[in-house]
Amino acid sequence: LERVFSGIQPTGIPHLGNYLGAIQNWVRFQEEYSSALYSIVDLHSITVPREPKVLHQSILDTTAVLLACGIDPQKCIIFQQSKVPEHVELGWILGCLTNVPRLRSFSQWKVKSAIQKSEGSVGLFTYPVLQAADILLYKSTHVPVGEDQVQHLELAQDTARLFNKKYGVFFPVPQTILNTTKKIKSLRDPMAKMSKSDAQALATVDITDSPEEIVLKFRKAVTDFTSEVTYDPSGRPGVSNLVAIHAAVTGLSPEDIVRQSVGLDTARYKGVVAEAVIQKFAPVRSEFGRLQEDQSYLKKVLQAGAEKAKELAAPVCLEIKRMVGF
Ligand code: TYM
Repeated sequence: LERVFSGIQPTGIPHLGNYLGAIQNWVRFQEEYSSALYSIVDLHSITVPREPKVLHQSILDTTAVLLACGIDPQKCIIFQQSKVPEHVELGWILGCLTNVPRLRSFSQWKVKSAIQKSEGSVGLFTYPVLQAADILLYKSTHVPVGEDQVQHLELAQDTARLFNKKYGVFFPVPQTILNTTKKIKSLRDPMAKMSKSDAQALATVDITDSPEEIVLKFRKAVTDFTSEVTYDPSGRPGVSNLVAIHAAVTGLSPEDIVRQSVGLDTARYKGVVAEAVIQKFAPVRSEFGRLQEDQSYLKKVLQAGAEKAKELAAPVCLEIKRMVGF
């Protein structure tokens, strides 16, 4: 059986990077695969400090954005991670197969623990183990993510192999699926990825930003001193990031975009990209507004999703515990 699994942290409104790196594929894959699960990974999100009220609202907002983007609860299972406690149980078992130096080598651990002036929490340290558990709990075969998750998925793959070797073949080794736009950069620093935790408000375009905000953010986007529009990600990362976004939202190739932008200078080009982004997300933004008014519907969707996920997870977890010798 082929099964898709992926997750997103409920940390405010998802941004263009989340959409173009992952959510766009999620929408496609719920049609193309017979089974797909998408999780709002609240357990992962408390690895850095979160305000409970804000977190609670973020879970519902993230759900609303996913539905507004086209995630359909009739075609996939959308659920809140913490409602299926088997994630934590399997996380413990897999943690006992994972060595400390491997976890220490993760770039997200190095970056995020350095930002938290203390040492960083145990949860932040073991975060990739929980992620492996998320995937393996459903015996998932395909995991659509952005490039920043590739290292985490290598751990999931290695852990599946290790478990299979130690206890008997049980898990498929999950495949990482990257979109063509696998990494969207910050609009303020084209060397960094677009990230929800970016302190600069202008760096990140949220999926539900207003047309005015989108225009402003693209107008302020950092480019270089050449006015032509070209696609050269290593030589001209700023303008190339704009071309990549423009290509992704219009469904054209970067080469087509460059060809149709001959004669535009980057200042005018920024306006063109902003307009394309506004067009693409206008229906999502209005549907999000509608769903936000209906919190009881969102809760119902999550409730139903949790029940279905639990039904799949419970027998797998039971079998794993038996294999381990419990
Ligand atoms: P998160 O919440 O940071 O991001 C959700 C998805 O968006 C992708 N993404 C990007 N893609 C392209 N460019 C960007 N600038 C960009 N920023 C984010 C991420 O790669 C991700 O696919 N650890 C995961 C959540 C997770 C998960 C899982 C994913 C938990 N368990 C199991 C897959 C399978 C995370 O923090 O994603």
